[in-house]
Amino acid sequence: MSGGVPVSALSLSGLTVERGGRAVVRDVSIEVPAAQVTALLGPNGAGKSTLVLSAGGVLRPRSGAVLLDGTDLAGRRPERIRQAGVAIVPEGRRMLSDLTVEDNLRVAMYALPRPQAEAGRARVLELFPQIARRLPAPARALSGGEQQMLVLAQALVSQPRFMLIDELSLGLAPVVVSRLIPVIRAVADGGTGVLLIEQFATVALGLASRAYVMEGGRIRFSGAAGELRSNPELLRSAYLLRGSAGGGSAPSPARGHAGNLDG
Ligand SMILES: Nc1ncnc2c1ncn2[C@@H]1O[C@H](COP(=O)(O)OP(=O)(O)O)[C@@H](O)[C@H]1O
Ligand SMILES: [Mg+2]
Repeated sequence: MSGGVPVSALSLSGLTVERGGRAVVRDVSIEVPAAQVTALLGPNGAGKSTLVLSAGGVLRPRSGAVLLDGTDLAGRRPERIRQAGVAIVPEGRRMLSDLTVEDNLRVAMYALPRPQAEAGRARVLELFPQIARRLPAPARALSGGEQQMLVLAQALVSQPRFMLIDELSLGLAPVVVSRLIPVIRAVADGGTGVLLIEQFATVALGLASRAYVMEGGRIRFSGAAGELRSNPELLRSAYLLRGSAGGGSAPSPARGHAGNLDG
């Protein structure tokens, strides 16, 4: 592309992913533009985590593409996808809990070119002063919020062009979530395209430019985040849709979230 600034995006295109012999992500297409937050909402079991794992190379999609600069990354190994500039933050905050915070960061820097790794480390310590203060501590001594900061830092250390975050605020106190929000904003403002899966619609839609709602393995809505924000009924119906893929008997957190839109 000559002249003009090319609009860069990570395009998940027509992804279908099977688990346990069943397609739990079905023909899903999501555009993640650079320098923006894109929200992905939806009830438990919708297929959001599966989508992230397949984009990150942890699960191999049955069909579809993960397009970055015209290259299809689908089915590549996780390290290759990360080297291409796509970092994922899987649900569950997995870390090496017996290692120090410093060593957890070092593990994430492994296999990156040295200058990139050191620059990335400096950047994440600036983004997370709380992590910078905890470098010698064993990871298991971190609070839930600090653990989330550490896994975000591990993803950011490679200075990814795109970052897919699965459940930013799960299990965290609102005050902790409120500290993470400006960091996500800063990451996007720095040019990284962020796909944010987030149970609290208010948090996600407050950060996002565009939003997608997934349910039963499919995209049920996509549009401007503001459209969902200003239309709680749309959000509520999207969340409360119950497809055949559901089956969980636990009440979905949707009611509370939809209610949060009023506040
Ligand atoms: N390891 C697994 N094996 C088989 N089915 C799974 C596995 N993990 C998740 N699933 C199923 O895949 C579907 C999508 O799950 P998931 O991607 O975790 O959804 P979400 O992140 O939106 O809650 C659900 O029906 C879930 O039961
Ligand atoms: Mg999930």
